[in-house]
Amino acid sequence: SDSSNTLKGVASFPIGAAINPQLLASNALYKSALVKNYNSISTENCAKMNRLQPKAGQFNWTDTDALVNFARQNNMKVHGHTLIWHVAVPTWVTNFQGDSLAWEKLMKTHIQTVVGHYKGSIKSWDVVNEAFEADGSLRKSIWYQHLGADYIARCFQYAHEADPQALLFYNDNNSVYQTKKSDAVYAMLKNLKQRNIPINGVGLQMHITVNTSESILTNVIRQYASTGLLIHISELDIRMNYSLSTTFVLTDAVKNAHASKYKAIAKIYKGVVAKAQQFGITNWNLGDSDSWLLTESKSEDHPLLFDENYNRKLSFYGFMQGL
Ligand code: XIL
Repeated sequence: SDSSNTLKGVASFPIGAAINPQLLASNALYKSALVKNYNSISTENCAKMNRLQPKAGQFNWTDTDALVNFARQNNMKVHGHTLIWHVAVPTWVTNFQGDSLAWEKLMKTHIQTVVGHYKGSIKSWDVVNEAFEADGSLRKSIWYQHLGADYIARCFQYAHEADPQALLFYNDNNSVYQTKKSDAVYAMLKNLKQRNIPINGVGLQMHITVNTSESILTNVIRQYASTGLLIHISELDIRMNYSLSTTFVLTDAVKNAHASKYKAIAKIYKGVVAKAQQFGITNWNLGDSDSWLLTESKSEDHPLLFDENYNRKLSFYGFMQGL
């Protein structure tokens, strides 16, 4: 196939997608759009704690192993998402009774069992996801409540012990336009680096809309890049219907705005992030019909690069032009 006509063929950094192993096994169009255009897979849900360790000490590797094997066969890499988060916590953890030492052991065991199992095959991880609130304070998650504010640093240390080669990321949402949150995340990243905590990169989720300000995005990405960390646009999708209107109409004007926003993101990333820090851009899902946003809200939207039949949209070409 002609590589100048695919996303991965034109990009100078990895292009990823968040993938569902069941869809991959059952939908040939999904599979072929993925293999043609992407060289990285993020584990959409299957490597979250409730999936990997549904019962205490009982790990279920089946789905994540399937993605790892698929990636190996197709020359792709796998980015692991996510070790410690306040969502997708299994009930046994929510109900867990124990002192801070027992909680520490629970957290450490999860991280080290998972990172250890995939040592050498999953070479990068979102270690902690969404630890901050919009106002810049640390979220009072069960992890925070039982382990204190510095649990984040220890998560990185534990992951690093289990696989010293793995690239370790802090990942968060809305940190590209919520000023208080982005400042707090930036301060934490600098603090972790100063203390020589083994962190390699930051993931900017980038669930944005056609309306999101490009100048704000540029400034915040520049701020994060100044840490010297790898920069991963880790969950890119762009809502067309940003007001969640029930009478949304898919006009040519909206399609054009969507394509030009995708192009702008690619250009900002290339323009602002030094080559050595460009870890990649990952789409959160593949086609409009498998987007998580459809189940998040009932309103019509078309946030991705492929349509319901995995045909390339105008936005695919917009994004490709920016790469
Ligand atoms: C989402 C998945 O895409 C959905 O299928 C699931 O129901 C909920 O989680 N930020 C994250 C991701 O870090 O883990 C979320 O993934 C989307 C928002």
